[in-house]
Amino acid sequence: METFQAQLTRKLSDALSSAGLPFAGEVTPTTDPRFGDYQSNAAMVLAKQRGENPPKIAERIVSKLDVAGISEPPSVAGAGFINFTLKREAVEKRIAELLHDERLGVATDSSPKKIVVDFGSPNVAKPMHVGHIRSTFLGDALARIAEFLGHDVIRDNHVGDWGTQFGMVIWGWKNLLDRESLKRDPIAELVRIYKETNERATKDETVREAVRAELVKLQAGDPENFAIWKQCVGLSLQEFSKAYKLLDVHYDIVRGESFYNDRLPGVVDRLLKKGLAEISEGAVCVFFRDIPELAEKPAIIRKSDGGFNYATSDIATVDYRINDLKRDTLWYVVGAPQTLHFKQIFEIARREGEKADFRHIPFGNVLGENRKLMKTRSGENVPLHDLLKEAITRAEKIIAEKNPELSEPERKEIAKIIGIGAVKYADLSQYRMTDYVFSWDKMLALHGNTAPYLQNAYVRIRSIFRKADPSSAQQVFDRAGGSRQQSAVTLAEPTELGLAKCLCQFAEIVPQVLNDFRTNILANYLFELANSFHAFYEACPVLKAEEPARSSRLVLCDLTGGVLQRGLKLLGIEVPERM
Ligand code: ARG
Repeated sequence: METFQAQLTRKLSDALSSAGLPFAGEVTPTTDPRFGDYQSNAAMVLAKQRGENPPKIAERIVSKLDVAGISEPPSVAGAGFINFTLKREAVEKRIAELLHDERLGVATDSSPKKIVVDFGSPNVAKPMHVGHIRSTFLGDALARIAEFLGHDVIRDNHVGDWGTQFGMVIWGWKNLLDRESLKRDPIAELVRIYKETNERATKDETVREAVRAELVKLQAGDPENFAIWKQCVGLSLQEFSKAYKLLDVHYDIVRGESFYNDRLPGVVDRLLKKGLAEISEGAVCVFFRDIPELAEKPAIIRKSDGGFNYATSDIATVDYRINDLKRDTLWYVVGAPQTLHFKQIFEIARREGEKADFRHIPFGNVLGENRKLMKTRSGENVPLHDLLKEAITRAEKIIAEKNPELSEPERKEIAKIIGIGAVKYADLSQYRMTDYVFSWDKMLALHGNTAPYLQNAYVRIRSIFRKADPSSAQQVFDRAGGSRQQSAVTLAEPTELGLAKCLCQFAEIVPQVLNDFRTNILANYLFELANSFHAFYEACPVLKAEEPARSSRLVLCDLTGGVLQRGLKLLGIEVPERM
């Protein structure tokens, strides 16, 4: 099913070639409905290139444009925009088609990629904190969208399960561990011993030395230290899984840093042999003297004490993903502070001749209400677990007020959907690079651009179908059954037509998200859709309308519910049937 945007772009391109002009960009949706639904600035672009008059070129293009089945006759406006207004019949026809399309009009990508998405990737023996949520939510949503568009996606959790923190953890384990606390809350106990060891090491040279010795022993494969390390990793992964289950996030593989350990010497040898690395002050480094921003920042791939670095394991990871996993596209959903690190890694891969498409997908910070990095009162990172628990508790309160009739188990189930949805949406509806303020009241509000608002729009639609006579509800809304009756669609009222056009845009919006990894494009679209729906619902009675308007409006309701549900699902957010 070709979108209106694609159809109009194709027609425009035909018109340009028959006018002897080159292609000059896609048709885009207008920002102001007074100028119709779509527009092209081709005439302005071409006029500038050729030193001609834009409206004149526009007229020339329009005279060749054949869009009769889709649009009213195109008009030229302003400085030379060509404007298109969709024909009502074309929209009616499309809505009837969408009703029978499981994919709601969204086409699969014509050149499917083999992608690995590296996201979440928390560190072992440290709590997963609010700073990891953006990577987890964003990575999960991007993976869902890529999969829906037909790409082959592997979700990889590159956990930080190897590194200098284990010197501390092992020393702490041997000297400070409280087994009871470990049983009760393993991560909290691991964090406690890590922190206390760190404090002692700062003050006391002998502890510092002992910590270093434990790390060296671990790296040399000492069985006792290795067993402690293994236990810490296991306990942490268990804890992470609990969070992932609650968040409905899944991974295909978990290849932590330690997975690459025995490949690291090979990486260093290879880069030395290829002449890409050199020895400098006893360390092995890759220099980027020709790249101004990296000129002063070599990547150290083997320290002078023989130890390997984060960079070394990421170089091994690139190899593994391209050669073992056979990926052609590598996405790293990791915060902006690691930008330089990934520039180095991608540059090294490029120098090694790797052709894959490498993308670092960075994001900004989550701030507390004081606009500083979000912290607990005692200045710690907020543990993810506490955050989600609070989201659910707060959501439960809101639901209890809104709908006191719900039974307790129902209320608890819905609270989970609303609470988690709110936290995810607050994040995904922001442009990823902007820092945002984490505000419970804002994210849980039933009005405004929030998950509960969208979920509530969906719930409203579901209640319409529950109220409609059961046979009609069955007929129109039974997506699972698949045998929906043909319902004629008539879009007589302006709000009906507006809603219908918005529904047709879903297919245009979803692929756009991946152009610059902006989930906020989809979120904003869903918000607009819910607004369009409310405008329609206020202006047009549904169940009380006469036929054929009644069935036609039920179709609009059905599709709106379907798009809201699918759109939210692509963001990793569920919808309840009631709330
Ligand atoms: N564990 C790292 C951190 O918490 C993120 C890892 C990102 N992925 C990677 N391949 N380096 O900062």
